[in-house]
Formats: sequence, C-alpha cells, structure tokens
Amino acid sequence: MCGIIGYIGENKAKPILINGLLRLEYRGYDSAGIATIEKDEIKTIKNKGRVKNLNDIEEINSLKGTIGIGHTRWATHGKPSSINSHPHADNTNCFSVVHNGIIENYSDLKEFLKSRKYKFLSETDTEVIPNLIHFNYQNSDETGDTKFLKAVVDTCKMLKGSYALEVISSAHPNNMIVVRKDSPLVIGKGLNENYISSDIPAILSFTKDFYILNDLEFAYISRNNIEFYNEDLEKIHKDFQNITLDTSSTEKDGYPDFMLKEINEQSKSVRETIGSRISSSSKTIISDLNINKKFLKTINKIYIIACGTAMHAGLTAKPIFESLCEIPVEVEPASEFRYRNPIITQNTLCLFISQSGETADTIAALKLAKSKNSKTIAISNVVGSSITREADYTVYTHAGPEIAVASTKAYTSQIVLLAIIAIYFAEILDKNSTKINELKNDILLLPSNIEEVLKDTEKIKAFAKRIYKEKDIFFIGRGIDYTVAVEGSLKLKEISYIHSEAYPSGELKHGPIALIENDVTVVSILTNRLLLEKSISNIQEVVTRGAKTFIVTNQELNDDFDEVINIPKTNYLISPVLSVIPLQLLAYYISKEKGLDVDKPRNLAKSVTVE
Ligand code: F6R
Repeated sequence: MCGIIGYIGENKAKPILINGLLRLEYRGYDSAGIATIEKDEIKTIKNKGRVKNLNDIEEINSLKGTIGIGHTRWATHGKPSSINSHPHADNTNCFSVVHNGIIENYSDLKEFLKSRKYKFLSETDTEVIPNLIHFNYQNSDETGDTKFLKAVVDTCKMLKGSYALEVISSAHPNNMIVVRKDSPLVIGKGLNENYISSDIPAILSFTKDFYILNDLEFAYISRNNIEFYNEDLEKIHKDFQNITLDTSSTEKDGYPDFMLKEINEQSKSVRETIGSRISSSSKTIISDLNINKKFLKTINKIYIIACGTAMHAGLTAKPIFESLCEIPVEVEPASEFRYRNPIITQNTLCLFISQSGETADTIAALKLAKSKNSKTIAISNVVGSSITREADYTVYTHAGPEIAVASTKAYTSQIVLLAIIAIYFAEILDKNSTKINELKNDILLLPSNIEEVLKDTEKIKAFAKRIYKEKDIFFIGRGIDYTVAVEGSLKLKEISYIHSEAYPSGELKHGPIALIENDVTVVSILTNRLLLEKSISNIQEVVTRGAKTFIVTNQELNDDFDEVINIPKTNYLISPVLSVIPLQLLAYYISKEKGLDVDKPRNLAKSVTVE
C-alpha cells in the first residue's frame, strides 16, 4: 500500500511527481504529498484525499526544484489528514522522507527521540524516520556524502518492520537515498536523470531501464549516477534490466473505468496466459517450471496460499489439481498460514499466488514455507516482483497490468495458469490422459468463449438497475460454482459497498436461510450437470421464501427465474473462467448505478504491502 515516486534530474520535478502519483494512486488514495528542494531548502506540499486535491493547491505550481519525492497514502498509523500525509520532515526540516510500509517499533523509537527533545507533529509511524536520520547525522564522525548515507543506513538498522524509503536532504541537495525492506521499490535510469517508483508502469513512459532493489540495498542517487551499497556501506554492483511493456496497457483506451476495460480484456489476457504452453497435440510446456517426475512422485500434499481474489483462484484450482494429479490440496489465506505451524515437509509443494507479487502476507508465508524446506512456486502477474524473487520457481500469468483495485483479469488468468500447471504435473505423472485431452481443448476455446459471454451485457445492466439499492445480496453454488460465488460476493462488496455473503447452496438451510425474505436477491451459479437438480432445489427453497434470483448457467433450465444469464458450455473444472464474468459485470454496473468510484473503492488499495 502507498505509492512512492521520486525524480532527480534536469527538469522540474513537480509535474513528473504528480504524473507518477496519479499512476500510483491505485496503491492508496487517503492523501498525497510532494517535497522538492528549492534553493537548498525543502518545500513540502501535501493534502488529504486524492492526488487531484494536491495538484489543485495553487502554491504547488511555484515548486521549481529538480529533485523531489512524492507519496500517495493508504493510512495505517494515523487517520487520513493533511498532517499525517507524507513527506515527513525532521524537526529542522533538513531531511524529508516518504515511506511505504509499517515501522513496528515506532513507539519505542518515538520515546527514544522524545527523550532527546525531538517533537512530533503527526500520528504516523513514519515521522520517527527523518528524526532518527537527523539524530544519526548529528552524531556521526563522517563527512561529506558518506555522512548522509551512513545516517540513513544507521537509521535503517534501528527500524523493525517493512519499508521502502526515499530520503532527500537540504544539506545534500544533489542526492537522494533510497532503500527497501519488504516493500517494493524500483529505480528507472535515464539520461542525466533518474526516477524512483513503487512499480515499473508508473515511470515506464520515462525510461525502460530499471534497477530492481533487493532488501537492504541502499542506492545513492544523483542526476547522472547511481551507486549501490549494502548495510556495511560496501559498494555493490547491480545490473539494470531493460523492461519492455506496452504502455497503452496502462491507459483506459476509451473505457470509462479500468475495471470495465480489464473485464473486457479477458479474452486477450487468457490467450496470453495460455500462450504456447498447451496444445492439443503435444505435451504441456512450462518453460520456467523445471520439475521432474522423480520429484513430483514424492509430493504428497500441495498447499495453495494467497490472499483475497488470488486465494479464490486457489480455491477453484483445488479440484483441478485433485482430479488430475490425485494429490490432496489445501488452500489457505496467507495471513492465517504464516502465523500457525503448518505441517510442511520436503514432500509438500507450496504454490503462492499474487497478482502484484508484493502482498506482505503472501511473501511472509512463502518465506515460512521455504524455511521448512518445501519447494515453492510463485504465480504472479508482475515481472520481477518480490514473490518471484523469493520462490524456487516462478510462472507468470502474463495478463498485462491490472490497474483497477478490484481484480478481474488477473483472477481468470490465475485459474487458467493453475489449470495448465495441474495438467503439466498430471502429464509428468502419467495420470488421467483422457480427462487432460478434453480439458486442454476446452482451455484453448476459452478466449472465444469469453468473447461470447461479453457480447451481451444488457440483461446484467438492467438487473443491476433493479437491485442497486439493496442492502444484502447472497451468492450460492455447489462445488466449483461455490468458489465462484465467493469471488462474485467479494467483487460486489468491495466496489458497491453492499453487504453480501457466499454460501455453498446446501448449507443455506443450516442457518443463513433465516435471512432470506421477500425480495432479497440470491445469485446462483449452476455449471455442474451432475449437481443440477440438487442446486435447483436449493434455489427453489429461497424462491419459496420470496427471493429474487439471478442465475448464471451453462445448463438447460426448465424452471422460471427472475434473470438467467446463459454462458457457453465448457469443462466443468474451468467453468469459473466464464461464470465469473457476469458476476464481475453485475458488481460493476451496481457500483456505477450507485455513482461510486469503481476503480478506487473506499478503504482499499491494489497492493497490500502491509500485514
Ligand atoms: C480483490 C482483490 C484483492 C487481491 C488481494 C491479493 O478484488 O484484488 O483481494 O486479490 O489483495 O492481491 P495480490 O494478488 O496482488 O497478492
């Protein structure tokens, strides 16, 4: 959470910082701020709310500095307010800092500084950092640039928690220091200018050459030089990577919102995920996954660990792995997994799914699995992201940048990729070849079937108009359809703020049916022919109690329901890739009817880099 941007070069920093902050706003939008150095003095301007509020402050146009740092905040410590916004300065305004992460020992550090007469203006954990830098700087015997660098390094040694930091100083107006620990940070190398950002797309229009910082690597940056140091102040060598990404994929392309664009891109993104990995005539190839039969035969349990929507993709993948590979699978939220003592042996394979690759809980869970000698596989959409650097193997979804906070195309690509991995394992293990051939054919048909689902959205729009004022909506399904119900329910609540619950259809009568009364909407997913009659009976139970029904199905239904959205037939195991789309659209249109900001729902951020 929180977006960080920085610039040092020959041009005015302010427009570059604002441009970057607008692109990073998906990481948090409680407040925004920038600081530049103007004639050897740090000038800071910040404001509560969106980046637009910051840019509307007239005084911001007077900033002429060619070095600056910027921040868009997702509040953790201290409510969203101007005073709690970043950048934060030390008491003398000599050092200014932006921070993404959480300083866990900030109260102790605050007491330490208070006892040395430092004063605090904000309620944030961050404010201790510039003051500690000042303290360490004052108490250092070093001189020149090393004094600045050492003060930052010494400060980091005192911090517990996670951080990506940019530091500028009026005493060193031509330099910036950046460092990260468990929060993302990249440096873009330009010609006589350098850029710093929380992610690559935010600065991709300025440069294609990137240094990806690892934990506790310190970069000492001037406009035409970047030096890297370790914690012992030894110089280290780093190579930059040339990143080619289509920048148009980070624009709205005529759509009113990124979410609608990303929903509509799913045929393309799924096609990219499939790539040349599977074909109907030959064995599956996952070039980044070099796993052999001898090793796979030893695996007696697979864990799939992730958060939110990515975990829902894992729930869908469980029956795919179990039916093709015949290995038991457990799916668990990373935030739970990391704080218990899961039974992991060297015969356990752990898969970690993260669109951003930066989710703090997922990274911590991965580290835990590694410490227990499990082989780990990361599934991510972001090249070079943190989980990809931690895991033994990485497989990319290649869904293209996902900007809307609510995940859509990343989810469908994750399911497709997990299905391909399950097929790959089953082929190595020589299991279920007939099932696999059928499944492969249907995976290859998914892009055209997705186009089919997206063709007619009028019925969904009309139903959204009918129900957008409701307070509670239920989602039900059996088996794999239940995993889609859970995702549909999450999509709805996060962007429409309507309370919603997902239940396995057969569980309703064990309690939740008490909540069904006249006109309550129940959304149901029906894609399993074998469970059709049972599921229809469950729907009838709610209809009898007055519920309105919205059904997504690829089956022939004889009964009448309020709205039925027909989707193409496909293999049951991958049906979620199609059945989720009407649910994504339903959530989208309800949110639009309510006049909400679909791409940036309240209290949320795209990348949850704090636990
Ligand atoms: C919901 C959503 C979140 C993310 C979750 C994990 O629409 O996007 O639930 O799925 O925060 O994020 P990643 O996949 O980046 O680890």
